[in-house]
Amino acid sequence: MILKDRFGRVIETIRISVTDRCNFKCMYCSIDEDTIFLPRESIMSFEEIVEITRILAQMGIKRVKLTGGEPLIRKNITELVKNLAAIKEIKDLSLTTNGSMLTKKMVYNLKRAGLHRLNISLDSLNPETFRLITGGDKLERVLEGIENSLKAGFKTVKINTVLIKGINDTEILDLFNFAKNNNLTLRFIEEMPLSAGSSKGIMGVSNDDVFNILKDYLVTDSKITGDIYPGPAVTFKIKGGSGRIGFISPISHPFCSGCNRIRLTTSGKLLPCISRNEGLNILQLMRNRVDPTTIKKKIQEIVFYRKFSHNGFSDYILMNRLGG
Ligand code: 5AD
Ligand code: SF4
Repeated sequence: MILKDRFGRVIETIRISVTDRCNFKCMYCSIDEDTIFLPRESIMSFEEIVEITRILAQMGIKRVKLTGGEPLIRKNITELVKNLAAIKEIKDLSLTTNGSMLTKKMVYNLKRAGLHRLNISLDSLNPETFRLITGGDKLERVLEGIENSLKAGFKTVKINTVLIKGINDTEILDLFNFAKNNNLTLRFIEEMPLSAGSSKGIMGVSNDDVFNILKDYLVTDSKITGDIYPGPAVTFKIKGGSGRIGFISPISHPFCSGCNRIRLTTSGKLLPCISRNEGLNILQLMRNRVDPTTIKKKIQEIVFYRKFSHNGFSDYILMNRLGG
């Protein structure tokens, strides 16, 4: 069985938000002091996440990314990783984290549980700027977390960087050198104007500008375009060094035509596109004991009628709920 939309795009990847809670308050993601979190009972349990993933795996999903919020905040997250890794159809299991909880022990446990890859957010190497963006002074811990992850021998450790005009856009070369010196793949992600950022009036930076600054230091990577697996990043090798630089450019170069991913929100709603809040509440169906065959039919239908592209970004969307 494969999951396909009416434009012929085969869907093989899902991003699952395992919690809407986070210990950071990134300016482009978190609303304000009074972020309203979902009530516990509306959040998927680990058993429910595994059950939904099993259904999706039978339908052609091969790659799972756990996100949030901060996924490592959920107690016993390694148990979830272990149970997802045991689903035989899942060939790639990764997790996106802010890096602040990646202790040696955590990293070791994640690796042992069967996690393949880690993506870590890092927007600044300057403690002051880091605090301004994330609302906390955890830069040191994040850097340690990156080091621990590299040492643990993950297949890949990727760094995600979001640039904001007037805040961290002066650090492009520093971040580039950080990737080069540590053999990392660092991807610049264009800021998407979702609810949080829009309400604060923050402005992203076009990856065309970032590329212009870095292009003399980069060479085309013939082996890898995007991820190891197809993804939205365009990746380059760093000239004369190790490491890679990637560009994820939802604003300047929308990649909808090749989009092969769907999302599952913290409360179990399947979203065919990041920019839309409408979706299929699989969790509710499961809790109402709707049989798996009917659930599969509904999934197929909502995926089939996926829109070709988004018309800009909806400003009521909360990244922490839908899975960044
Ligand atoms: N635009 C772009 N990237 C975002 N992220 C969170 N919110 C936004 C946004 N509005 C990023 C985080 C993290 C990744 C999972 O998503 O920085 O690296
Ligand atoms: Fe937390 Fe990630 Fe949102 Fe930052 S971007 S507040 S780390 S969920």
